[in-house]
Amino acid sequence: MSNETASAARTLTLRILRHNPQDPASEPRWARYELEEYEGMTLFIALNEIRERFEPSLQFDFVCRAGICGSCGMVVNGRPGLACRTLTSTLPSEITLAPLPAFKLIGDLSVDTGQWMRGMSERLETWIHEQAETDLHALEERMEPELAEQIYELDRCIECGCCIAACGTARMREDFVGAVGLNKLARFRLDPHNARTDADLYELIGDDDGVFGCMTLLGCHDVCPKELPLQTQIAFLRRKMVTVS
Ligand code: SF4
Ligand code: F3S
Ligand code: FES
Repeated sequence: MSNETASAARTLTLRILRHNPQDPASEPRWARYELEEYEGMTLFIALNEIRERFEPSLQFDFVCRAGICGSCGMVVNGRPGLACRTLTSTLPSEITLAPLPAFKLIGDLSVDTGQWMRGMSERLETWIHEQAETDLHALEERMEPELAEQIYELDRCIECGCCIAACGTARMREDFVGAVGLNKLARFRLDPHNARTDADLYELIGDDDGVFGCMTLLGCHDVCPKELPLQTQIAFLRRKMVTVS
């Protein structure tokens, strides 16, 4: 019997950490729901079923349902991941769901990753800094396909926040830029349009809120749903920052 066939007959128990910080009377509590599993069920489907059948007030975020928007990150049985891309058949029948830590809680499983990402992006100025004399009307120089591919690879970050939720340093240091921030600077560093030097980057990430705060715990690398090469990027940036310090 295939795993999928076996799991289709299961009853799932979902324990969900519920809390509404807007309501002074609300206390964090575990709520328990039971569902019959069926083939192809994802956590997105399961949560919608719970909301439709048992608990209309349950809060969680989804937009794309396809691993693209990054809005459905949550802690699934202790591990950050995307609910829309998680098949229940890959999990035991007892499933615990909790909001991503390190972000502002909106309610239940919904957190405000946008505020965190915006703060980090503004601190690191995660956009192209062009040469002052750039002629905006001139044709761009041709980029080698291999380089374009390398940049594209790092651009696949969906800002889901899973790497921050899995990082011990991010839990201790509020302003730590995390793997998501370091990956962005590594991406812009590769870009031939970028005018910032490694010395400029050192000003931004050459401290304990940047690349030297990373303790190489590698939770980020293990949980990134886009499988970005975070370990390699962080190690590379650290070597570069050591040489300019
Ligand atoms: Fe999510 Fe990976 Fe981007 Fe971190 S680096 S925000 S885990 S996609
Ligand atoms: Fe955190 Fe990843 Fe470094 S988990 S400590 S950013 S290797
Ligand atoms: Fe968009 Fe899950 S709903 S990544």
